[in-house]
Amino acid sequence: MKVFRKSGDRVELLALSWDADLRLGDYLVVEEDGRRILLQVIDVEYADVPGLMEDILRDLSSNAIEEVERFDPLEVESVIRSIRDSRVVVAKVRRINDADPSVLWLPSRYTSKVRKVEVADLLRDVVPAPKVPVRLGEGVSVDVMNVEGSVTLIVGRKESGKSHLAKVLACGLARAGCNVVVLDVNGEYVSLGRRRNGERSEVSELLKVLMPGLNYQVPLSTLSEEVLADVMTYALGLPQTSMRELLKLFRDLRKRGALTFTNLLRAVQSVPMNESVREALANRLLTLESTGIFTDERMDGEGDSLETLFPPDRGALVVFDISRLGAFQRRVFVEFLLSRLKELLLNDEIDPVVLFAEEAHLYLRETYWEDVITRMRHIGISTVLITNQPDSIPELIYRQADNVFIFNMRNGSDMDHLARNLEIDSETLRSILPNLSPGMVLAWGKVVGRLPVVFKVIDPDLMTLGRTRTKLGRLVQQS
Ligand SMILES: Nc1ncnc2c1ncn2[C@@H]1O[C@H](COP(=O)(O)OP(=O)(O)OP(=O)(O)O)[C@@H](O)[C@H]1O
Ligand SMILES: [Mg+2]
Repeated sequence: MKVFRKSGDRVELLALSWDADLRLGDYLVVEEDGRRILLQVIDVEYADVPGLMEDILRDLSSNAIEEVERFDPLEVESVIRSIRDSRVVVAKVRRINDADPSVLWLPSRYTSKVRKVEVADLLRDVVPAPKVPVRLGEGVSVDVMNVEGSVTLIVGRKESGKSHLAKVLACGLARAGCNVVVLDVNGEYVSLGRRRNGERSEVSELLKVLMPGLNYQVPLSTLSEEVLADVMTYALGLPQTSMRELLKLFRDLRKRGALTFTNLLRAVQSVPMNESVREALANRLLTLESTGIFTDERMDGEGDSLETLFPPDRGALVVFDISRLGAFQRRVFVEFLLSRLKELLLNDEIDPVVLFAEEAHLYLRETYWEDVITRMRHIGISTVLITNQPDSIPELIYRQADNVFIFNMRNGSDMDHLARNLEIDSETLRSILPNLSPGMVLAWGKVVGRLPVVFKVIDPDLMTLGRTRTKLGRLVQQS
């Protein structure tokens, strides 16, 4: 392959058909006298050789007449044919390896050497050796220290492999020692403790599955005033004036050791206060009780205190299965969880956590988005957001994202949305994303040295339950 033309960051290389064994997203290095340009392949076209049309037409007409054995002892014919059949490989300049990028330099078309670079070698070159490696793909190990403390996005269309990667990442983080919390809206992370054949997996010891309202309930008496205020204000829309009244009663009952829903409601009904405030409080308390997430009793069983789920000496994979909760219960629960996690982190009662949230726009209030990328990160909650609707994540978050994993995508406006907000040009996205097969990902960010890298996500043999449930699917499996 030889460099042919360069215009801006777009480079065209000429390749004879037999050495053009390339895939979209592959990396090439053009080298000359110790200087290097790193290119990424985004397309392949036919070369525009002069007289080509006439040649092809002549070929067609001679085929039509008869097959003639041509006398060609020097095999000139095959050389001419391969020239006529040559390809133009279109690539983008990703990096110019030169001390001073403002020095004008282009490699020679004749003497420079072009070679393909494998992803593993590329990453070795551009990212420092991972301190805590997690394997995501063949030859692709990323440093989870670049995921903890960061904002990571996983986007792509339905069934493209997003949740699969999220599971690989969540398990890797937990095994490396991180506190992982998953908000599981589809109930598909609950069996990560098992392999497909039913045996225990590497995370079985670390996995804890909790179903809010069933095996995870929070005694009202353990709520702090701050957490109660957050849930009441943000999930139930209680005005500040009413909030003050509620906190007064809450504080009083706690002092007397009689903090239950019944006592709180009784107090609201009997203490003198504005009638509209009374009504607002009674309504909210009944609604809160009806979610089943908060109880009067301290449960003997598991799950009544969040801090015990995160031991300081090893990782944890805590999956909150919120698939059976209604939309409203979800909002209440997520508001409680985030508020409680923040409180524990601010009091240094637990180590930082990584929160995996699928389709977060369904249950996360809008103002949280800013919190996620600014305050939360500093408090110690890093987030991995997963969605098949890229425009549900605000532009602000894309621009602040440290890592982005993009799976197959065909919708032009989704790709433009990404191109506007990421450091990847629209031409690259439009060329690579629609051609990614399931499980193939275009990764970008800290984990891959801020270069767009394409790879296939590994299949770690975990029972993932990610499939869409259908009756026909079950019948076919049984037969
Ligand atoms: N790298 C991979 N290796 C093997 N199987 C995979 C891989 N990626 C995805 N799959 C399988 O493909 C199917 C769809 O993947 P997944 O559930 O991750 O898609 P998704 O993008 O999360 O879809 P949705 O938007 O519907 O949630 C699953 O059955 C999953 O196990
Ligand atoms: Mg999914």
